[in-house]
Amino acid sequence: MFETKIIEATDDGMKEAQNAAVELLQQGEVVALPTETVYGLAADAFNPTAVAKIFAAKERPDFDPLIVHIATVRDLERVAIVPEDIRHTLNQLTTEFWPGPLTVILPKTPEVPDLVTSGLSTVGVRQSGHPIFRAINKALGNPIAAPSANRFGRISPTSASAVMKELGGRIPLIVDAGACSEGVESTIIRIEPREGKKPIFHLHRAGPISKEQLQKFGKVQAVKPGDTLQSPGQLESHYAPLTPFRLIEKPSDFTPELGKRYGLLSYTGEEGGEFVRMHRWENVVALSPGSGKLAEAAVRLFYVMREMDEMGLDEIIAEPVSEVGLGVAIMDRLKRASAR
Ligand code: TXA
Ligand code: MG
Repeated sequence: MFETKIIEATDDGMKEAQNAAVELLQQGEVVALPTETVYGLAADAFNPTAVAKIFAAKERPDFDPLIVHIATVRDLERVAIVPEDIRHTLNQLTTEFWPGPLTVILPKTPEVPDLVTSGLSTVGVRQSGHPIFRAINKALGNPIAAPSANRFGRISPTSASAVMKELGGRIPLIVDAGACSEGVESTIIRIEPREGKKPIFHLHRAGPISKEQLQKFGKVQAVKPGDTLQSPGQLESHYAPLTPFRLIEKPSDFTPELGKRYGLLSYTGEEGGEFVRMHRWENVVALSPGSGKLAEAAVRLFYVMREMDEMGLDEIIAEPVSEVGLGVAIMDRLKRASAR
Protein backbone atom coordinates (compact mmCIF):
# COMPACT_ATOMS: atom_id res chain seq x y z
CA MET A 1 0.00 0.00 0.00
CA PHE A 2 1.07 3.54 -0.72
CA GLU A 3 -0.05 6.84 0.60
CA THR A 4 -0.81 8.33 -2.79
CA LYS A 5 0.47 11.88 -3.08
CA ILE A 6 -1.06 14.42 -5.47
CA ILE A 7 1.17 17.28 -6.60
CA GLU A 8 -0.43 20.10 -8.54
CA ALA A 9 1.66 21.00 -11.55
CA THR A 10 0.70 24.65 -11.44
CA ASP A 11 3.17 27.54 -11.61
CA ASP A 12 4.54 27.02 -8.10
CA GLY A 13 4.35 23.24 -8.05
CA MET A 14 5.59 22.62 -11.60
CA LYS A 15 9.24 21.93 -10.82
CA GLU A 16 8.38 19.95 -7.70
CA ALA A 17 5.90 17.77 -9.59
CA GLN A 18 8.26 17.11 -12.46
CA ASN A 19 11.23 16.33 -10.24
CA ALA A 20 9.23 14.02 -8.01
CA ALA A 21 7.83 12.15 -11.02
CA VAL A 22 11.20 11.76 -12.72
CA GLU A 23 12.84 10.58 -9.50
CA LEU A 24 10.21 7.91 -8.93
CA LEU A 25 10.38 6.76 -12.55
CA GLN A 26 14.17 6.47 -12.27
CA GLN A 27 13.72 4.35 -9.15
CA GLY A 28 11.51 1.96 -11.09
CA GLU A 29 8.21 3.16 -9.64
CA VAL A 30 4.97 3.99 -11.43
CA VAL A 31 3.39 7.46 -11.43
CA ALA A 32 0.15 8.81 -12.86
CA LEU A 33 0.74 11.59 -15.38
CA PRO A 34 -1.56 13.83 -17.39
CA THR A 35 -1.67 13.48 -21.16
CA GLU A 36 -3.87 15.39 -23.60
CA THR A 37 -6.16 12.35 -23.96
CA VAL A 38 -6.55 10.75 -20.50
CA TYR A 39 -4.32 10.35 -17.44
CA GLY A 40 -1.73 7.60 -17.93
CA LEU A 41 -0.02 5.28 -15.47
CA ALA A 42 3.62 5.70 -16.41
CA ALA A 43 6.75 3.60 -16.00
CA ASP A 44 10.19 3.52 -17.63
CA ALA A 45 9.45 1.40 -20.72
CA PHE A 46 12.94 -0.14 -20.63
CA ASN A 47 12.57 -1.35 -17.03
CA PRO A 48 10.50 -4.57 -16.97
CA THR A 49 10.21 -4.58 -13.17
CA ALA A 50 8.69 -1.10 -13.28
CA VAL A 51 6.38 -2.10 -16.14
CA ALA A 52 5.20 -5.11 -14.13
CA LYS A 53 3.99 -2.67 -11.47
CA ILE A 54 1.65 -1.08 -14.03
CA PHE A 55 -0.03 -4.41 -14.65
CA ALA A 56 -0.27 -5.08 -10.91
CA ALA A 57 -1.73 -1.67 -9.98
CA LYS A 58 -4.32 -1.82 -12.77
CA GLU A 59 -5.05 -5.53 -12.36
CA ARG A 60 -4.48 -5.63 -16.08
CA PRO A 61 -4.16 -9.03 -17.76
CA ASP A 62 -0.71 -9.55 -19.28
CA PHE A 63 -2.13 -10.19 -22.77
CA ASP A 64 -2.97 -6.48 -23.13
CA PRO A 65 0.03 -4.52 -24.49
CA LEU A 66 0.98 -0.98 -23.42
CA ILE A 67 1.50 2.12 -25.52
CA VAL A 68 5.03 3.53 -25.48
CA HIS A 69 5.48 7.31 -25.39
CA ILE A 70 8.54 9.05 -26.79
CA ALA A 71 9.70 12.57 -25.95
CA THR A 72 11.08 13.37 -29.40
CA VAL A 73 10.67 11.81 -32.84
CA ARG A 74 14.37 10.98 -32.75
CA ASP A 75 13.60 8.46 -30.00
CA LEU A 76 11.38 6.49 -32.37
CA GLU A 77 14.25 4.31 -33.53
CA ARG A 78 14.96 3.21 -29.96
CA VAL A 79 11.60 1.46 -29.77
CA ALA A 80 10.51 0.77 -33.35
CA ILE A 81 11.93 -0.39 -36.65
CA VAL A 82 10.38 1.58 -39.47
CA PRO A 83 10.01 -0.54 -42.62
CA GLU A 84 11.20 1.25 -45.76
CA ASP A 85 7.84 0.85 -47.49
CA ILE A 86 5.97 2.87 -44.88
CA ARG A 87 8.67 5.40 -44.01
CA HIS A 88 7.26 8.15 -46.20
CA THR A 89 3.71 7.69 -44.91
CA LEU A 90 4.89 7.57 -41.30
CA ASN A 91 6.80 10.81 -41.84
CA GLN A 92 3.68 12.45 -43.19
CA LEU A 93 1.61 11.25 -40.23
CA THR A 94 4.10 12.26 -37.55
CA THR A 95 4.64 15.65 -39.17
CA GLU A 96 0.91 16.26 -39.23
CA PHE A 97 -0.25 14.69 -35.96
CA TRP A 98 2.70 14.48 -33.52
CA PRO A 99 2.96 15.48 -30.82
CA GLY A 100 -0.62 14.41 -30.40
CA PRO A 101 -3.23 11.70 -29.94
CA LEU A 102 -2.17 9.27 -32.69
CA THR A 103 -0.63 5.89 -31.84
CA VAL A 104 1.05 3.91 -34.60
CA ILE A 105 1.72 0.17 -34.37
CA LEU A 106 5.20 -0.67 -35.69
CA PRO A 107 7.66 -3.58 -35.50
CA LYS A 108 9.47 -3.30 -32.17
CA THR A 109 13.18 -3.18 -31.39
CA PRO A 110 14.68 -5.88 -29.13
CA GLU A 111 15.19 -3.22 -26.42
CA VAL A 112 11.45 -3.03 -25.74
CA PRO A 113 10.70 -5.65 -23.07
CA ASP A 114 8.24 -8.37 -24.07
CA LEU A 115 6.10 -7.46 -21.08
CA VAL A 116 5.37 -4.06 -22.64
CA THR A 117 4.08 -5.58 -25.88
CA SER A 118 2.59 -8.73 -24.32
CA GLY A 119 4.96 -10.81 -26.39
CA LEU A 120 3.89 -9.23 -29.69
CA SER A 121 6.54 -8.36 -32.27
CA THR A 122 4.99 -4.90 -32.61
CA VAL A 123 4.80 -1.85 -30.37
CA GLY A 124 2.26 0.98 -30.23
CA VAL A 125 4.07 4.35 -30.17
CA ARG A 126 3.00 7.93 -29.74
CA GLN A 127 4.42 11.30 -28.77
CA SER A 128 2.12 12.94 -26.27
CA GLY A 129 1.18 16.56 -26.85
CA HIS A 130 0.93 17.34 -23.14
CA PRO A 131 3.77 19.73 -22.17
CA ILE A 132 4.14 18.32 -18.64
CA PHE A 133 4.13 14.72 -19.82
CA ARG A 134 6.72 15.51 -22.46
CA ALA A 135 8.94 17.43 -20.06
CA ILE A 136 8.97 14.44 -17.70
CA ASN A 137 9.52 12.03 -20.59
CA LYS A 138 12.47 14.11 -21.78
CA ALA A 139 14.02 14.43 -18.33
CA LEU A 140 13.74 10.68 -17.78
CA GLY A 141 15.57 10.11 -21.05
CA ASN A 142 13.85 6.80 -21.70
CA PRO A 143 10.53 6.07 -23.42
CA ILE A 144 7.53 5.82 -21.09
CA ALA A 145 5.06 2.93 -21.13
CA ALA A 146 1.65 4.21 -20.08
CA PRO A 147 -1.84 2.79 -20.28
CA SER A 148 -4.82 4.76 -19.04
CA ALA A 149 -4.64 5.15 -15.25
CA ASN A 150 -7.77 3.18 -14.39
CA ARG A 151 -8.36 -0.32 -13.09
CA PHE A 152 -8.75 -2.77 -15.95
CA GLY A 153 -12.08 -2.51 -17.78
CA ARG A 154 -13.18 0.61 -15.94
CA ILE A 155 -13.70 4.20 -17.04
CA SER A 156 -10.55 6.05 -18.11
CA PRO A 157 -9.62 9.00 -15.85
CA THR A 158 -9.58 12.53 -17.21
CA SER A 159 -8.71 14.24 -13.92
CA ALA A 160 -6.39 13.63 -10.96
CA SER A 161 -9.34 12.97 -8.66
CA ALA A 162 -10.60 10.26 -11.03
CA VAL A 163 -7.14 8.64 -10.92
CA MET A 164 -7.27 8.83 -7.13
CA LYS A 165 -10.58 6.96 -7.11
CA GLU A 166 -9.20 4.28 -9.42
CA LEU A 167 -5.70 3.79 -8.07
CA GLY A 168 -5.44 5.62 -4.74
CA GLY A 169 -3.36 3.56 -2.29
CA ARG A 170 -1.79 1.58 -5.12
CA ILE A 171 0.63 4.15 -6.54
CA PRO A 172 2.95 6.70 -4.92
CA LEU A 173 2.20 9.82 -6.98
CA ILE A 174 -0.33 11.58 -9.20
CA VAL A 175 0.76 14.68 -11.09
CA ASP A 176 -2.29 16.91 -11.27
CA ALA A 177 -2.51 19.17 -14.32
CA GLY A 178 -6.27 19.64 -14.36
CA ALA A 179 -8.67 18.17 -16.91
CA CYS A 180 -7.43 16.50 -20.11
CA SER A 181 -8.04 18.55 -23.25
CA GLU A 182 -9.13 15.67 -25.54
CA GLY A 183 -10.96 13.39 -23.14
CA VAL A 184 -10.80 10.13 -25.11
CA GLU A 185 -7.80 7.87 -25.74
CA SER A 186 -5.55 8.21 -28.77
CA THR A 187 -6.48 6.93 -32.21
CA ILE A 188 -4.57 3.69 -32.93
CA ILE A 189 -3.59 2.63 -36.44
CA ARG A 190 -1.41 0.09 -38.25
CA ILE A 191 -0.07 1.05 -41.68
CA GLU A 192 -0.29 -1.42 -44.55
CA PRO A 193 1.70 -0.26 -47.59
CA ARG A 194 0.35 -0.80 -51.12
CA GLU A 195 2.34 -0.69 -54.37
CA GLY A 196 1.55 2.48 -56.29
CA LYS A 197 -1.46 3.31 -54.12
CA LYS A 198 -2.14 5.13 -50.89
CA PRO A 199 -1.58 2.85 -47.87
CA ILE A 200 -4.33 1.30 -45.81
CA PHE A 201 -4.66 2.51 -42.22
CA HIS A 202 -6.15 -0.26 -40.12
CA LEU A 203 -8.03 1.57 -37.38
CA HIS A 204 -7.56 -0.37 -34.12
CA ARG A 205 -9.19 2.26 -31.95
CA ALA A 206 -11.17 5.36 -32.92
CA GLY A 207 -9.94 8.49 -31.15
CA PRO A 208 -9.34 12.23 -31.40
CA ILE A 209 -7.62 11.98 -34.79
CA SER A 210 -10.62 11.19 -36.95
CA LYS A 211 -11.04 9.02 -40.01
CA GLU A 212 -11.64 12.18 -42.01
CA GLN A 213 -8.25 13.61 -40.91
CA LEU A 214 -6.39 10.38 -41.69
CA GLN A 215 -7.95 9.98 -45.13
CA LYS A 216 -5.68 12.66 -46.52
CA PHE A 217 -2.79 10.18 -46.27
CA GLY A 218 -4.37 6.75 -46.71
CA LYS A 219 -7.47 4.62 -46.86
CA VAL A 220 -8.98 4.03 -43.43
CA GLN A 221 -10.37 0.60 -42.62
CA ALA A 222 -11.84 -0.29 -39.23
CA VAL A 223 -10.45 -3.42 -37.57
CA LYS A 224 -13.48 -5.54 -36.76
CA PRO A 225 -13.97 -7.51 -33.54
CA GLY A 226 -12.69 -11.03 -34.09
CA ASP A 227 -10.16 -9.84 -36.68
CA THR A 228 -6.92 -11.75 -36.07
CA LEU A 229 -4.91 -8.55 -35.91
CA GLN A 230 -7.30 -6.87 -33.50
CA SER A 231 -5.66 -5.09 -30.56
CA PRO A 232 -5.65 -7.58 -27.70
CA GLY A 233 -7.00 -5.01 -25.25
CA GLN A 234 -9.86 -3.80 -27.40
CA LEU A 235 -12.39 -5.92 -25.58
CA GLU A 236 -16.03 -5.62 -26.39
CA SER A 237 -16.86 -4.73 -22.80
CA HIS A 238 -14.80 -1.82 -21.51
CA TYR A 239 -15.09 1.66 -19.99
CA ALA A 240 -17.86 0.24 -17.83
CA PRO A 241 -19.51 2.11 -14.97
CA LEU A 242 -20.60 -0.12 -12.08
CA THR A 243 -24.21 0.96 -12.68
CA PRO A 244 -25.87 -0.97 -15.53
CA PHE A 245 -25.39 1.09 -18.68
CA ARG A 246 -27.31 0.83 -21.94
CA LEU A 247 -26.89 2.66 -25.22
CA ILE A 248 -30.16 2.77 -27.14
CA GLU A 249 -30.63 3.61 -30.78
CA LYS A 250 -34.05 5.23 -30.67
CA PRO A 251 -36.58 6.19 -27.98
CA SER A 252 -38.87 3.23 -28.78
CA ASP A 253 -36.05 0.84 -27.78
CA PHE A 254 -36.61 1.79 -24.13
CA THR A 255 -39.36 0.33 -21.94
CA PRO A 256 -39.00 1.38 -18.31
CA GLU A 257 -39.59 -1.16 -15.55
CA LEU A 258 -41.89 -0.04 -12.77
CA GLY A 259 -40.14 1.51 -9.77
CA LYS A 260 -36.72 1.63 -11.35
CA ARG A 261 -34.68 4.81 -11.30
CA TYR A 262 -33.27 5.71 -14.69
CA GLY A 263 -30.85 8.46 -15.68
CA LEU A 264 -30.33 9.75 -19.21
CA LEU A 265 -26.93 10.47 -20.67
CA SER A 266 -28.05 12.93 -23.31
CA TYR A 267 -26.08 14.66 -26.05
CA THR A 268 -27.29 18.24 -25.55
CA GLY A 269 -29.78 17.68 -22.73
CA GLU A 270 -32.22 20.07 -24.38
CA GLU A 271 -35.71 19.83 -22.95
CA GLY A 272 -37.36 19.39 -26.31
CA GLY A 273 -35.13 16.46 -27.30
CA GLU A 274 -36.92 13.21 -28.14
CA PHE A 275 -34.91 11.17 -25.62
CA VAL A 276 -35.29 13.76 -22.86
CA ARG A 277 -39.07 13.90 -23.36
CA MET A 278 -39.71 10.16 -23.51
CA HIS A 279 -39.48 9.40 -19.76
CA ARG A 280 -39.50 11.08 -16.37
CA TRP A 281 -35.79 10.64 -15.74
CA GLU A 282 -34.28 10.84 -12.26
CA ASN A 283 -31.44 12.78 -13.86
CA VAL A 284 -30.58 14.06 -17.28
CA VAL A 285 -26.90 14.78 -17.81
CA ALA A 286 -25.70 16.40 -21.02
CA LEU A 287 -22.48 15.47 -22.78
CA SER A 288 -22.41 18.77 -24.55
CA PRO A 289 -24.57 21.31 -22.73
CA GLY A 290 -22.79 24.26 -24.29
CA SER A 291 -22.34 24.50 -28.00
CA GLY A 292 -23.57 21.00 -28.75
CA LYS A 293 -20.21 20.16 -30.24
CA LEU A 294 -18.56 16.75 -30.35
CA ALA A 295 -15.26 18.07 -28.96
CA GLU A 296 -17.01 19.19 -25.80
CA ALA A 297 -18.81 15.84 -25.59
CA ALA A 298 -15.51 13.94 -25.87
CA VAL A 299 -13.86 16.02 -23.16
CA ARG A 300 -16.81 15.45 -20.81
CA LEU A 301 -17.60 11.82 -21.67
CA PHE A 302 -15.66 9.91 -18.99
CA TYR A 303 -16.26 12.63 -16.39
CA VAL A 304 -20.01 12.43 -16.94
CA MET A 305 -20.02 8.62 -16.89
CA ARG A 306 -18.30 8.71 -13.50
CA GLU A 307 -20.67 11.35 -12.20
CA MET A 308 -23.74 9.33 -13.23
CA ASP A 309 -22.23 6.18 -11.76
CA GLU A 310 -22.37 7.87 -8.36
CA MET A 311 -26.04 8.89 -8.56
CA GLY A 312 -27.40 5.61 -7.21
CA LEU A 313 -29.40 4.93 -10.38
CA ASP A 314 -30.70 1.48 -11.34
CA GLU A 315 -29.66 2.02 -14.93
CA ILE A 316 -28.03 4.65 -17.09
CA ILE A 317 -29.55 5.04 -20.54
CA ALA A 318 -27.38 6.70 -23.19
CA GLU A 319 -28.61 8.28 -26.39
CA PRO A 320 -26.47 7.95 -29.51
CA VAL A 321 -24.37 10.71 -31.06
CA SER A 322 -23.80 10.98 -34.79
CA GLU A 323 -20.91 8.85 -35.99
CA VAL A 324 -18.89 11.47 -37.82
CA GLY A 325 -15.50 12.88 -36.82
CA LEU A 326 -15.01 12.59 -33.07
CA GLY A 327 -18.48 11.05 -32.83
CA VAL A 328 -17.01 7.69 -33.92
CA ALA A 329 -14.69 7.62 -30.89
CA ILE A 330 -17.49 8.66 -28.54
CA MET A 331 -19.88 6.02 -29.88
CA ASP A 332 -17.11 3.39 -29.61
CA ARG A 333 -16.79 4.13 -25.88
CA LEU A 334 -20.56 4.20 -25.34
CA LYS A 335 -20.98 0.84 -27.12
CA ARG A 336 -18.24 -0.80 -25.06
CA ALA A 337 -19.62 0.63 -21.81
CA SER A 338 -22.98 -0.82 -22.83
CA ALA A 339 -21.66 -4.32 -23.65
CA ARG A 340 -21.83 -6.87 -20.84
O1 TXA B 1 -4.38 8.09 -25.29
C1 TXA B 1 -3.83 7.03 -25.00
O2 TXA B 1 -3.45 6.23 -25.85
C2 TXA B 1 -3.63 6.72 -23.50
C3 TXA B 1 -2.60 7.70 -22.95
C4 TXA B 1 -2.21 7.39 -21.54
O3 TXA B 1 -1.50 7.75 -23.79
N1 TXA B 1 -3.22 5.37 -23.33
C5 TXA B 1 -4.06 4.31 -23.48
O4 TXA B 1 -3.52 3.08 -23.19
O5 TXA B 1 -5.22 4.44 -23.85
P1 TXA B 1 -4.39 1.77 -22.94
O6 TXA B 1 -3.43 0.79 -22.41
O7 TXA B 1 -5.56 2.08 -22.10
O8 TXA B 1 -4.83 1.32 -24.37
C6 TXA B 1 -3.85 0.82 -25.25
C7 TXA B 1 -4.48 0.07 -26.38
C8 TXA B 1 -4.96 -1.30 -25.94
O9 TXA B 1 -6.22 -1.56 -26.52
C9 TXA B 1 -3.90 -2.23 -26.55
O10 TXA B 1 -4.42 -3.48 -26.86
C10 TXA B 1 -3.48 -1.46 -27.79
O11 TXA B 1 -3.47 -0.14 -27.36
N2 TXA B 1 -2.10 -1.82 -28.19
C11 TXA B 1 -0.94 -1.49 -27.59
N3 TXA B 1 0.11 -2.03 -28.22
C12 TXA B 1 -0.38 -2.72 -29.27
C13 TXA B 1 0.20 -3.52 -30.32
N4 TXA B 1 1.51 -3.72 -30.39
N5 TXA B 1 -0.63 -4.09 -31.22
C14 TXA B 1 -1.97 -3.88 -31.16
N6 TXA B 1 -2.56 -3.15 -30.19
C15 TXA B 1 -1.80 -2.57 -29.26
MG1 MG C 1 -7.35 1.94 -21.24
